[in-house]
Amino acid sequence: MTEDDWGYLLKWNNAPDVMELADENDFQEMELSEVQAIYRWISTHAHCFIIEVAGHPIGDCWLQRMNLTRIADQFPGEDVCRIDIVIGEKELWGNGYGTEAIIS
Ligand SMILES: CC(C)(COP(=O)(O)OP(=O)(O)OC[C@H]1O[C@@H](n2cnc3c(N)ncnc32)[C@H](O)[C@@H]1OP(=O)(O)O)[C@@H](O)C(=O)NCCC(=O)NCCS
Repeated sequence: MTEDDWGYLLKWNNAPDVMELADENDFQEMELSEVQAIYRWISTHAHCFIIEVAGHPIGDCWLQRMNLTRIADQFPGEDVCRIDIVIGEKELWGNGYGTEAIIS
């Protein structure tokens, strides 16, 4: 993920169909500055990626240390991570891209 990706991140984070599944909070449209504040904070706590197919951005994900106590507690002393993932282009759901992003 780079400073060139704001257009995609703004679009995906403002897609109600995508965000109602990705975010437990009620959908609310965001300004670019709000999206930037979220990702800039996350990038200090996680590795952030853009998911591409044939060089075309279709989604984003981030990998961070597990922050859910109920899960971290099951693996004491182990390096447990959490992935948040969104395929932002809804018409591409169900084609295996999410799976591919996770396993790569
Ligand atoms: C969830 C998501 C990342 C999966 O990516 P994808 O490319 O559509 O999924 P895949 O084609 O790789 O399918 C992976 C598996 O997840 C299942 N799956 C896909 N979307 C799902 C959903 N919303 N809920 C439950 N299971 C889902 C598929 O049925 C498939 O199961 P199978 O392997 O047993 O057949 C994508 O659909 C998405 O971005 N959805 C909206 C946002 C979201 O829900 N993000 C996850 C929470 S942060």
